[in-house]
Amino acid sequence: MLIQRVKPLARILAQGSDEERGLKRSLGPWALTAMGIGAIIGTGIFVLTGVGSATRAGPALTISFVIAGIVSALAALCYAEVSSKVPISGSAYTYTYATLGEFFAWIVGWALVLEYALGASTVSVGWSGYFTFILHTLHIWDVPQAWQHSHWDPMPGIANLPAAGIILLVTALLVKGTRESGTINAIIVAIKVAIVLFFIAVGVGHIDAANYHLPAGPFTFAGGYLPFGWSGVLGGAAFMFFAYIGFDAVSTTAEEARNPARDLPFGILMSLVICTVLYIVVVAILDGMVPFYKLNVTFPVTFAMNYVGLAWAGVIIAFGAIAGLTTVLLVMMYGQTRIFYAMSRDGLIPPLFVKLHPTWRTPWLSQIVFGLLIAAAGAFFPIGVLGSLTNMGTFVAFILVAAAVPLLRRRHPELKGSFMLPFGPYIIPIAAAVSAICMMYFLKNGNPLVWGFFPIAWLGFIIWFCAGLVFYFSYGRNRSTIALEQTEGLAVVQPRVN
Ligand code: ALA
Repeated sequence: MLIQRVKPLARILAQGSDEERGLKRSLGPWALTAMGIGAIIGTGIFVLTGVGSATRAGPALTISFVIAGIVSALAALCYAEVSSKVPISGSAYTYTYATLGEFFAWIVGWALVLEYALGASTVSVGWSGYFTFILHTLHIWDVPQAWQHSHWDPMPGIANLPAAGIILLVTALLVKGTRESGTINAIIVAIKVAIVLFFIAVGVGHIDAANYHLPAGPFTFAGGYLPFGWSGVLGGAAFMFFAYIGFDAVSTTAEEARNPARDLPFGILMSLVICTVLYIVVVAILDGMVPFYKLNVTFPVTFAMNYVGLAWAGVIIAFGAIAGLTTVLLVMMYGQTRIFYAMSRDGLIPPLFVKLHPTWRTPWLSQIVFGLLIAAAGAFFPIGVLGSLTNMGTFVAFILVAAAVPLLRRRHPELKGSFMLPFGPYIIPIAAAVSAICMMYFLKNGNPLVWGFFPIAWLGFIIWFCAGLVFYFSYGRNRSTIALEQTEGLAVVQPRVN
């Protein structure tokens, strides 16, 4: 009953090709890889490694990154197969509509709000950390503590105004339809990778091996490489997973890829491989440069350079981080409104989200509504909570994309994607789903508790999920276009699938 409303794949593919008209198919495999790297490298590595080292895993955060990388790779493989068979924009929401049906597609769309919108809030708080650092270091302005922290930060304030400010600025850009051109994106990605390589090259000479095995003390809990034990390492993996989010954004560029069926899987997997290698090296160096318990700051990579007496290098990194984080914001806030655009077109949410501006041809009302919500979240909530909730939403999307792999193979054996998972349709998807569920569980480690026992990330997720169910059953279920066609017996044109 709940899963009977499957959107015909033929129609999805036809809708995709309608929308393609006018868009230039200019992106090749390496341009797609660059887009993936542009979406992936951001707050995770530049900011969350600080909280992650200090409060989750200590120097063993490197192992956390390896584990999170494996979980992401399993999901990325599933995305690669599905996107090679359904090479149109819309990402996990569309895949799920075609396989598991409307109810699960709704859950994915609703969960993706956490991934994209709260993800953008998380990045904005990271952006603010580097921005206020630069203002302070260059003696331009000391933003008062009250206005650069939320009430629940370790150093409490009233609201994080720079975080809200950058979101409103990016919203204004997106309302006017500023899409990053391929060239600008490539330049910023190059800057971002160069900054990461710069950190590696300069930092590697300043590792103090003692930092990997600090003795037990007032700040270090247990001593050694695993001060928080294996549960800390797993909690760190669940938290640092944020750093890998973004490879799925490659699948939203399907309309502009030259050969999407072949190049999307390449872009997804290659961007993930490159980032995983860079991340592991950076974290190993970071935790070797600074005792982990000192890293609970919002600009840890720059902090590490200052710590070893290289303030100039810290400033260079801070500028690069700001540029890099801004592009992540653009990708996420753009992605959010496009997903709601697709859901609104399917009748699952109000038509407000599908309205385009007469001149700029952007979903401007949607962009403004989300801009205000994302800015408020960035201003009033701490980065750890925002990042954890983002991860919860992303894990749910991953689980459902994993489920789509065997279903697509069974229901549409005629579709031959250019990328097929090794070991058949079950082993990797099941491993991907099970590992994502485990990560959701371990996210509790190091997460603030409500009522003294319940992790706030779980509570936030349950509230969000229940609100989504209420909304679906009171609104979307009756207004969905598929439902209207079924009840009114409207003919559905079935275009040919090649
Ligand atoms: N992976 C992206 C980041 O770390 C979301 O900012």
